[in-house]
Amino acid sequence: MGLSMGLNLLLLLAMVATNIISLYHLSSTIQSNPPVPDHLILQLSTIRATINHLRPSNKPPSAAPSDLLLYSHFSPIASSCRDNPILLHTYMNYTPFSPCPADSPLAEDLILRGCHPLPRRRCFSKTPPSPHPPLPFDPFSPLPDKIALLNHYTCKTFSCFAKLNPEMGFDMRVEKSRYLTSKMDLDLPIPQLLQLAESAKSVIRLGLDIGGGSGTFAAQMKLRNVTVVTTTMNLGSPHNEAVAARGLVPLHAPLQQRLPVFDGAVDLVRCGHAVNRWIPVAAMEFLFFDVDRVLRGGGFLLLDHFFSKRLDLEKVYVPLIGKLGYKKVKWAVADKGDASGVKNGEIYLTALLQKPLIRSSSK
Ligand SMILES: *[C@@H]1O[C@H](CO)[C@@H](O)[C@H](O)[C@H]1NC(C)=O
Repeated sequence: MGLSMGLNLLLLLAMVATNIISLYHLSSTIQSNPPVPDHLILQLSTIRATINHLRPSNKPPSAAPSDLLLYSHFSPIASSCRDNPILLHTYMNYTPFSPCPADSPLAEDLILRGCHPLPRRRCFSKTPPSPHPPLPFDPFSPLPDKIALLNHYTCKTFSCFAKLNPEMGFDMRVEKSRYLTSKMDLDLPIPQLLQLAESAKSVIRLGLDIGGGSGTFAAQMKLRNVTVVTTTMNLGSPHNEAVAARGLVPLHAPLQQRLPVFDGAVDLVRCGHAVNRWIPVAAMEFLFFDVDRVLRGGGFLLLDHFFSKRLDLEKVYVPLIGKLGYKKVKWAVADKGDASGVKNGEIYLTALLQKPLIRSSSK
């Protein structure tokens, strides 16, 4: 155990060091080749030694395609992992080929700090102690309680979370009617959304819901034969577990991360409550441009109840959204009537924006 754990750490160190060295290499190509400091050479030898150690030696040359070998040499690890050595050390302190520590909150802590992707580990993920009931096909069936490991939460069952706060996304009786009706101009119910898309001569088959909680938007869309994947963080509640229990796809990706979807792949991106004025404007701009990357021409961006201060909407967010050059299919603004909304002079914006079908290359 000691040796392989040591090896894990060494490998980790090596990966981190690769980042430093490539950074050094980048900067050194700009200057005129100053001598490479000894400690970097030392690190480089460590990396080589580690890789040699991991590679089976004296074997006949592999028949695998050389580019495949090239791409599989290094497992990716984010450079921000380096900024959180204590968390990372705790995370990598496990016994290989044994059950993994129950540390999903720790993994999320690291991910939220930009350490994404996390290094891989070789341990066995835990399963719930008793066999679970048959999994429901209906994404609005009550969440089966024995399906997920919830020991590390304050509530130990989905039904406990549902009782704690029925608005949190775990009470299926509440979720069943979400996104279907319009109580005010800010609401864009799904039937109307699909109708608007149709009259804009666009079809919605594939979507991405950013910060989608327990996945209800994807669930409603599934009933309409539209595939939506949901990025969601747990932040103290089992959102990923719930999305998966509903037979939907949870993507455990934080807001600051590049969306794990290929360019021009989706017809719709929805930004719900999670995308709001608390995100630094620069980060928001990168988020919106990444949304633009994954949307196909003619696809839709739905800002669903985006909230900001009234003044900032005109000064900051309207210009920011304007940079995308999308067509406004719907644009509704209204006061955010809750206590904090009134106190901070906040408003809600719900906007359906269509990406241009064809974007001229000169622009
Ligand atoms: C979804 O697909 C199924 C199977 O093809 C079909 O029976 C059903 O009518 C479709 N539902 C909608 C809302 O289009």
